[in-house]
Amino acid sequence: MSDLAAMQRTALDAVAAATDVMALDTVRVRYLGKKGELTGLLKRLGKLPAEERPAAGAEINTVKSALQQAISEKREALEQADLEARSNVDALDVTLPGRNAETGGLHPVTIVLQRIEHFFRGVGYDVVEGPEIEDDYHNFEALNLPEHHPARAMHDTFYFNPNLLLRTHTSPVQVRVMETREPPFRILCPGRVYRVDQPDPSHLPMFHQVEGLLIDHESSFADLKGTIVEFLRVFFEKEDLQVRFRPTYFPFTEPSAEVDVQCVHCDGNGCRVCSNTGWIEVMGSGMVHPKVLQYSGIDPEKFSGFAFGMGCDRLAMLRYGVDDLRHYLDNDLRFLRQFS
Ligand code: PHE
Repeated sequence: MSDLAAMQRTALDAVAAATDVMALDTVRVRYLGKKGELTGLLKRLGKLPAEERPAAGAEINTVKSALQQAISEKREALEQADLEARSNVDALDVTLPGRNAETGGLHPVTIVLQRIEHFFRGVGYDVVEGPEIEDDYHNFEALNLPEHHPARAMHDTFYFNPNLLLRTHTSPVQVRVMETREPPFRILCPGRVYRVDQPDPSHLPMFHQVEGLLIDHESSFADLKGTIVEFLRVFFEKEDLQVRFRPTYFPFTEPSAEVDVQCVHCDGNGCRVCSNTGWIEVMGSGMVHPKVLQYSGIDPEKFSGFAFGMGCDRLAMLRYGVDDLRHYLDNDLRFLRQFS
């Protein structure tokens, strides 16, 4: 029993000296384990004279609980320290400067599309969209292009089957509107269109069109010209931009005209972009053919209208000086960033 106080001191020192949970457990086993020193003392109590046992037992138990208490406090302290050490490693330094999120920009074709839409909404046109997978009737027949019509050859078509195809222009959207809406109306139909073409600087098998259609009690070629000339001057931001209408043939319009603008690169003086002609073709247009009105249930005696169609990809080329349509599809950030 004389060693008890000494044993308590060494044991408590060992607890205090433990630097981690493992070391602490070694101390616990050494004193409180089954074969531990304190446990041994308790086991040997029986060898003491009966009258000394209660006092000695009480003393040993006091040391035991003191040691147990010291161990559990130390364990808590060690675990807490461990937790803090670990959270320091994973800590977030909120004073560090943040990483910038990259901001995107609109694609040049989208920007051009929005500019076109903005102009035509301003003069009363509704924007209407339709399916990219069309049937033969809406893409061709209802536009006065019956089977075997030679003008079908102008549209190299992707067919799914003889009746189903990828639309070659957005005119079928106009047919769908004429079938369902009471004239008068003005609509603008933007969207993707498809034609069988090898990609090269001026051709893509998928491109973007915007077509417009106005149907009213009275409309004339003069209305068509006025609308288109004004649009082109706003679009190219040139008040005195020269525009010319060249007679041409479309099955769905009569009379029909291709529209040229004075070359925006050389102001009409002649350059590589306009093949030295001074002019660049930008759209097709014409007065809606009476047969097209009839097909969709509109009485050509009561209504007439005009239509026009343009390619956004080529307009974007002209406006931004892009020399190859394929840049639009490359996903090259160096190209795209120039428009953001
Ligand atoms: N649909 C024609 C095309 O894709 C364009 C056009 C539209 C021409 C309206 C005249 C009138 O080529």
